[in-house]
Amino acid sequence: MSDQTALSFASKTAPADGVVVMFAEEGRKLSPAAQDLDKKTKGLLSRAAEIAGFKGKKEQTVDILAPQGLKFARLVLVGLDKPSGYGPEDWLNLGGTVRGLLSGKEAPSAHIFVEMAGGDVATADIASFALGALLRGYKFQKYKTKSRKKKDADAEANDRTLKKIVIHCADPKAASQAFAPVRAMAEGVTLARDLVNEPANVLGPAEFAARAKALTKLGVQVEVLGPKVLQKLGMGALLAVGQGSDRPSQVVVMQWKGAGPRGGEPVAIVGKGVTFDTGGISLKPAAGMEDMKGDMAGAACVVGLMHELAARKAKVNAVGIIGLVENMPSGRAQRPGDVVTSMSGQTIEVLNTDAEGRMVLADCLWYAQERFKPKAIINLATLTGAVMVALGKEHAGLFSNNDELSDRLIAAGRATGEKLWRLPLGAKYDKMIDSKVADMKNTGGKWGGSISAAQFLQRFIKDGTPWAHLDIAGTAMSSVDSEINRSWGSGFGVRLLDRLFADAYERH
Ligand code: BES
Ligand code: MN
Ligand code: ZN
Repeated sequence: MSDQTALSFASKTAPADGVVVMFAEEGRKLSPAAQDLDKKTKGLLSRAAEIAGFKGKKEQTVDILAPQGLKFARLVLVGLDKPSGYGPEDWLNLGGTVRGLLSGKEAPSAHIFVEMAGGDVATADIASFALGALLRGYKFQKYKTKSRKKKDADAEANDRTLKKIVIHCADPKAASQAFAPVRAMAEGVTLARDLVNEPANVLGPAEFAARAKALTKLGVQVEVLGPKVLQKLGMGALLAVGQGSDRPSQVVVMQWKGAGPRGGEPVAIVGKGVTFDTGGISLKPAAGMEDMKGDMAGAACVVGLMHELAARKAKVNAVGIIGLVENMPSGRAQRPGDVVTSMSGQTIEVLNTDAEGRMVLADCLWYAQERFKPKAIINLATLTGAVMVALGKEHAGLFSNNDELSDRLIAAGRATGEKLWRLPLGAKYDKMIDSKVADMKNTGGKWGGSISAAQFLQRFIKDGTPWAHLDIAGTAMSSVDSEINRSWGSGFGVRLLDRLFADAYERH
């Protein structure tokens, strides 16, 4: 669940209590607040720093409990090395690092002095720092009943959770103003993480749709399309994937019209929302199957992004479309060898029921283009294990029919740290999914599995529509720890696409 810690901004006056965090730079140069404190305490800080061998380098800290002559519970000096060269990502990560040092164990409030030895930190960088701190504070603890009960019992005696973070800076008013979109972003990423972390017994297609429906209160128009409507629309590929489950498939359409009619056609964001992927009749092996509760991370990103755009009232027209299905084996499940007809009219030979994500996306992509004529369409999906073989967990795979869109996405990835690596598309790869009995088959053979999956999607993109496919199987779930994330579901894509919108599509 989201970080329950309140965050606020204040001037650089010395706090009376709590945990205090101050910075120092290379050569053990103390920040102005730290220098003042050092003087006031007759050299306590510089002495402790010297004893600790602290040089002001990155990742170095000096930690002092109950500092003599001060009312603070704890004083932490954090090394920044050379902050004059920091970019936004450095400030974001620093916010995460500092939040990671604060457990609330010593005191319920923390005061962080965000400043450099050589001058003030820019307001935008303070906002990045605050975002990093909020994202690092995220923990999915919904089902930890024991620790919660214990906390209640102990509440009066000694509540040891962090309640409050105060960021002390030169212009707290400006920082508070810059914080509004940061709060929206923290909420959006938190929502995406919550959805990915939620187990599949709790979050099936209908429950997921209900969570998306809640965006209505932010001014997003939300429609939930059930199986009857999907049948009428002809979404035979998506419905085939869900037909083995007792839980009916759903498609959710979310419209945010922040740019109004003058903003023109929307940008469409489409997400794979397989709430659990057993593989179907082509059943997956047991080991690690539990991870397939995260096979809806693409859809979670779309919902998180729509929340974020609406919460910060982005001047952009965006439509989010998610295909929600559960891929189960049963007497009603689709079989290998089945031929199904997609909404586009193209037929698909189902060679492997575990290659289900592309079938779900095929109908969602087609629907998005038919109904909205989007100026660009981007889909996110935990689509292939093969993308992890190619890129590990550092980059998501990017496929696109448009160099400009592709370059913009890569740039947004660099700026946010949600990195992308472009992989090829081409006629020879496309041939891999030709079928003997239908227009195409849903698997492309042994090699280049991420590419043949992308080729499959491209068969549902109309000529002239700029399109990008992000394969996020390695980055959105079972994530590697970072300074700003310790959650299994990372919320990958929300910050990335927010940046793309801000840079390329928003009216300013
Ligand atoms: N959801 C999986 C891909 C996946 C694997 C995501 C591991 C996250 C972690 C997808 O539906 C799938 O099963 N893909 C198959 C495709 C194959 C059958 C052609 C794969 O990658 O093995
Ligand atoms: Mn699968
Ligand atoms: Zn899947």
